[in-house]
Amino acid sequence: MKNRKELRIGLVGCGFMGRTHTNGYKRVSDFFPALTHTPVLKAVCARNAEKVKAFADQWGYESTETDWKHLVARKDIDAIDICTPNDFHAEIAIAAAAAGKMILCEKPLARDLAESQRMVDAIEKAGVKNTVWYNYRRLPAVTLAKQIVDSGKLGRIFHYRANFLQDWTINANLPQGGEGLWRMDAAVAGSGVLGDLLSHCIDTAMWMNGGIKDVTAMTETFVKERMHQLTGKVEKVSIDDACAILCHFNNGSLGVFESTRYARGHKALYTFEINGANASIRWDLHDLNRLEYFDNADESKVKGWRSIHVTDGDHPYMDKWWVPGLGIGYEHSFVHQVADFLKSLETGEPCSPTFTEAHETQKVCQAVLDSAVSGTWKNTGIKN
Ligand SMILES: NC(=O)c1ccc[n+]([C@@H]2O[C@H](COP(=O)([O-])OP(=O)(O)OC[C@H]3O[C@@H](n4cnc5c(N)ncnc54)[C@H](O)[C@@H]3O)[C@@H](O)[C@H]2O)c1
Repeated sequence: MKNRKELRIGLVGCGFMGRTHTNGYKRVSDFFPALTHTPVLKAVCARNAEKVKAFADQWGYESTETDWKHLVARKDIDAIDICTPNDFHAEIAIAAAAAGKMILCEKPLARDLAESQRMVDAIEKAGVKNTVWYNYRRLPAVTLAKQIVDSGKLGRIFHYRANFLQDWTINANLPQGGEGLWRMDAAVAGSGVLGDLLSHCIDTAMWMNGGIKDVTAMTETFVKERMHQLTGKVEKVSIDDACAILCHFNNGSLGVFESTRYARGHKALYTFEINGANASIRWDLHDLNRLEYFDNADESKVKGWRSIHVTDGDHPYMDKWWVPGLGIGYEHSFVHQVADFLKSLETGEPCSPTFTEAHETQKVCQAVLDSAVSGTWKNTGIKN
């Protein structure tokens, strides 16, 4: 469509998320033609000049930078998209806010609560548009689950449980730190599976089931020392390899969360289940177009778990894609988040989760780490 307003993107980081976001920017206007804004791939930034040039050529960015400060200072950029490892989220976001840029930041918002508080202060002071890429919310089956919860069909909610299981760090000879392995280095990542995986589960949980009041948690680091890729020395491992959380939600329901990178056989098993007085729902990332639903009001002879293939035209986002019955994938959650961000420019509404909302997830993460150290229950300070 001609006459669309441009949203000129400056992307920082061209790894895994740099690709998913860029794919979102490239696809969105074709599949969401009614939007009044369209992303323009103005510039991409990463420290290695050769790699960032190759990325720009492949994906169609107009220009490159090797210093994010130059990108943030550019007058021809409207929005900074932060796809770096976690240690640069705060510095880049705070500078981008001060420069009056919109900010789309990857999750977890920050390495710790103090850092995310500074980020929230910065965007509030600058009054800039912002969002955090908790993208799983925007898979149609997950959005449908939220709609079902909001409709009240589940009745009083008793239980929320979620898992995010992987197995890629079991090898004790795997180094930590540096390119590709920064998730193993607490100085860069902030935490292990908690910030990397459980932050997604916590975000989805609080979006659907309200705030988490208090937590008790345990963490474990199974391999205590690993060679650090950057120093070449064997160093202490400070991330949580595994984390288990019990919690109370403010609505009185109980939560159980587990994540590990030591669950042999699992690559990315993100599942959640919600049990209410009248009905239950459950979802599994490995079958992401499907939502399972049990309704106690069904006639007893046909009562059982329904398997809803969330691919019909009246399912969330699905009228934008193919014909009923045909599924979509992981990458579409990012297209949807871009679409919702562009829509929020039209409506003036926030694009959830904002920094302020993602800061609530940081509060839970902080309470989890504090609880794991102290062995006691910790309040999150979240009131609703
Ligand atoms: N939403 C999700 O589901 C999801 C999935 C994976 C990762 N993430 C998050 O996305 C972020 C990036 O993760 P990834 O898997 O894409 O990492 P990655 O290692 O694949 O890519 C990181 C990129 O950042 C660049 N980079 C690092 N420091 C930089 C700096 N100072 N200036 C400019 N560029 C810099 C690297 O060169 C690389 O291109 C992390 O915060 C991670 O937690 C989110």
